[in-house]
Amino acid sequence: MAATLDRPAVDVRKLDPYSFLAVLGKRVIHPGGRRSTEELFGLAQLQPGQRTLDVGCGVGTTAIQMAHRYNVGVTAVDIAPLMLERARRNVHRSGLDGKIEIEHGDILALRFPDNSFDRVIAEAVTMFVNRRQAARELVRVCRPGGMVLATEFFWRQPPTEEAREVFLGQVCPGMQLDKLDGWVRIYKDAGLTGLQVRSGPFEMMTPRGFLQDEGFLNATACLLRGVSRITYVRKMAWLMPRISRAVPYLGYILVAGVKP
Ligand SMILES: C[S@@+](CC[C@H](N)C(=O)[O-])C[C@H]1O[C@@H](n2cnc3c(N)ncnc32)[C@H](O)[C@@H]1O
Repeated sequence: MAATLDRPAVDVRKLDPYSFLAVLGKRVIHPGGRRSTEELFGLAQLQPGQRTLDVGCGVGTTAIQMAHRYNVGVTAVDIAPLMLERARRNVHRSGLDGKIEIEHGDILALRFPDNSFDRVIAEAVTMFVNRRQAARELVRVCRPGGMVLATEFFWRQPPTEEAREVFLGQVCPGMQLDKLDGWVRIYKDAGLTGLQVRSGPFEMMTPRGFLQDEGFLNATACLLRGVSRITYVRKMAWLMPRISRAVPYLGYILVAGVKP
């Protein structure tokens, strides 16, 4: 596939589902969608001038919202060059370059000193790595009195063997899910107190959720992009029925806590 000046060539077949969604132009790429991000903002009590960190920022949507709506300074990191490229472009288009710094970073080994940020968020990231280590790292870089907020997938009800195998074996190999209390324990063990929890259904990939998260115009643009290349069509034809099989059993959990 030919590369363009600003867009490196991508082998679509090898992309994980969330990178593929980013390639299609999707802006919200976590299981709770905009609903869980609004809940996160509600719990975070963001104040102008605070230093915030968005780990695994994807295409930068939440980082842009935080800077735009709450006038906070945002550092946003991601491990994937594809996401970083799109996040930088989206931040530039939003005119918020002065308020948001985008850089490469690994949730397992953040470059920031202890106690650096007032708020640390990670939407749908720790489940891809060593979860306990990642949670400790989020807490480490948060200042005492500051808050860590994270959203994750969780099993709302016990999945069938088939749904579990399709989702964790084929769609997202290596991803680690938990039940609600399992996630809460991880963040408690990482050192957070005063834990607050929200949860809800996984609607990101249902037609209603897609439309709610992206709005009519971007949902249509994603769809048109999805049918614009045979490799995209094949990928969607493989992905969508598999995700659909797991949807009834999946939900999102949002955990928020204070670093003592
Ligand atoms: C499901 S997407 C969520 C993206 C974004 N937070 C959002 O909600 O739209 C997971 C993101 O985590 C990033 N990621 C995966 N492993 C990571 C790691 N070890 N360190 C930092 N980011 C990571 C991926 O590149 C991807 O952007």
